[in-house]
Amino acid sequence: AVSALALMASASVAMADPTGCDEGEMVIKFSHVTNTDKHPKGIAAALFAKRVNEEMDGKACVEVYPNSTLYNDDQVLEAMLQGDVQMAAPSLSKFETFTKKYRIFDLPFMFKNMEAVDEFQNSEVGQSMKEAMVRRGLLGLDFWHNGLKQFSANKPLLVPGDAKGLKFRVQPSDVLIAQMEALGASPQPMAFSEVYGALQTGVVDGQENTWSNIYGQKFYEVQDGITETNHGLLDYMVVTSVDWWDSLDPAMRDQIKSILDEVTQERNAAVNQVNEENRQAILDAGATIRELTPEQRQQWVDAMKPVWDQFKDDVGQENIDAAQAINA
Ligand code: LMR
Repeated sequence: AVSALALMASASVAMADPTGCDEGEMVIKFSHVTNTDKHPKGIAAALFAKRVNEEMDGKACVEVYPNSTLYNDDQVLEAMLQGDVQMAAPSLSKFETFTKKYRIFDLPFMFKNMEAVDEFQNSEVGQSMKEAMVRRGLLGLDFWHNGLKQFSANKPLLVPGDAKGLKFRVQPSDVLIAQMEALGASPQPMAFSEVYGALQTGVVDGQENTWSNIYGQKFYEVQDGITETNHGLLDYMVVTSVDWWDSLDPAMRDQIKSILDEVTQERNAAVNQVNEENRQAILDAGATIRELTPEQRQQWVDAMKPVWDQFKDDVGQENIDAAQAINA
């Protein structure tokens, strides 16, 4: 495929598919739920599509559907197993019905920064997690970073007691549900595309997400402020169906995978900068960001970390130890 602009300028415009894919190209639908601008996943998906469309012109073509325009995350994996979509990058919190191994990434305060996350994901145990869902028909291709999560609510949150009794939207993950219960809050699992409206109408009082998602969805418009807790991770697994992946011509498959790996390396390395830009954009929009003193932050750690115990059998104590060794 060539770009839409080039197509418009070319004589072949009348024959072109409106998406920019050419006849005879294998179409790879890539569905995701975030915005495209300034967003770690939006940028990575667009770059992956651009590179496939240029370097595999005539053979393969990626169509990206962002902003939940094709599927929500609770539908996309089933759609993938049906063959209706070929690639997606849901957050690691959204694979609960396929594997419990990813729960380690949801445990609060497991990783001290994105460098530690990167090292753990690139370790042998991290890489083996890509295969955790194969018998259920899904294959993980690469981890994509988003970042660490912050809390926001319709009132200031400085100590864990401030969250008590509030309703918080969470992703559909038992770990995140347990985490909010540990705070005495009421967790409400909900699709990403519904969160802004739920915050606006008071269906929920607060939420947890990364700078890019808080900025991209404009949650700050309908919250009192954001507290910089960095209390948990939101990262992605680029995923495909085993059936589709196995059906590909091996040379095509290798080329797609090597483009994906290069995009992954490039964009994962840039993620701290993207997050910083989003944090700044939130401040520039006039929203309040509250920083915690070390003593206040320790209170959040003390309140939430006991959740690890509930899930150590699912994730393996040895994996928790490996993650902690990286933090040290
Ligand atoms: C969420 O549901 O909050 C996130 O998983 C959205 C995303 O894809 O970053």
